[in-house]
Amino acid sequence: MGNIVVIGSASIDLVVKTSVLPNTGETVMGDTFFTNPGGKGANQAIAAARLSDKVYMIGAVGEDAHGQQIIDNLKQNNVDTYFMDTIKNENSGTAHITLYENDNRIIVVPGANNYVTPENVLPKIKQFQAGDIIIMQQEIPEDTITAVVNYASNHGMKVILNPAPYRPLNPEIISKVDWLTPNESESQLLFNHKETQALAQLPNKLIITQGALGASFYNDSQYHIDGYRRDVIDTTGAGDTFNGALAVALNENKALADAIDFANLAASFSITDYGAQGAMPYRKDLD
Ligand code: RIB
Repeated sequence: MGNIVVIGSASIDLVVKTSVLPNTGETVMGDTFFTNPGGKGANQAIAAARLSDKVYMIGAVGEDAHGQQIIDNLKQNNVDTYFMDTIKNENSGTAHITLYENDNRIIVVPGANNYVTPENVLPKIKQFQAGDIIIMQQEIPEDTITAVVNYASNHGMKVILNPAPYRPLNPEIISKVDWLTPNESESQLLFNHKETQALAQLPNKLIITQGALGASFYNDSQYHIDGYRRDVIDTTGAGDTFNGALAVALNENKALADAIDFANLAASFSITDYGAQGAMPYRKDLD
């Protein structure tokens, strides 16, 4: 079994739960407010580290109280933070989340996550080896994704790219990653509403997550793995839990269909409490 290396964002989530959304120029009263650690990268690292050892995070925080909170939280969750940078005179990333009618709307202000650059990341990724699994998302600069994918494909490392939030993806990057895990809205944008065709053209690579419905992929005989239904409290971080758990299962050499089933199960736990990381399961929960 190799290492799991998450390269990505680490932020603090500022969350408002409300039963009314304001129109432009309008003020409304919300229900509750809370803050908790988030960021798609950190969420994925913690999802993996609750299910497996040897999980590393490469990322950056600001030199502020949030930065220390993010690092402490990663450490408490069994993530190795040796490769995390602290950026002087910069704020840690924040995500401004509105919870409304069982779903979320998120605005991310990247702050220190903008410093997860090729120059900062490549020397760190060189410490890892062939067979290790890298997970990335898109709350860090695009150049970093390109540089890491090129390095990894030349050095026998495997890459899961979670293309969230959406931005256009160079076809060369799609061809070089091992697994691509958009959700339904990201895949509609990436493949111009031709997802079925894309699944067939990218067998064993494209995995489209569909929330409670599960996930679709193509392996010559199978298109869909059903999800697990649970009562929804907060869906924030469900996709991140899926990606972290998927990396763990693939690192354990599970067949892709079994790995997706494992990831669906983990994601179903994550929606049963508030916060992106609040209900991410531990190994004993899934066993
Ligand atoms: O995927 C959920 C995450 O997206 C939140 O934790 C928030 O930080 C945003 O980045």
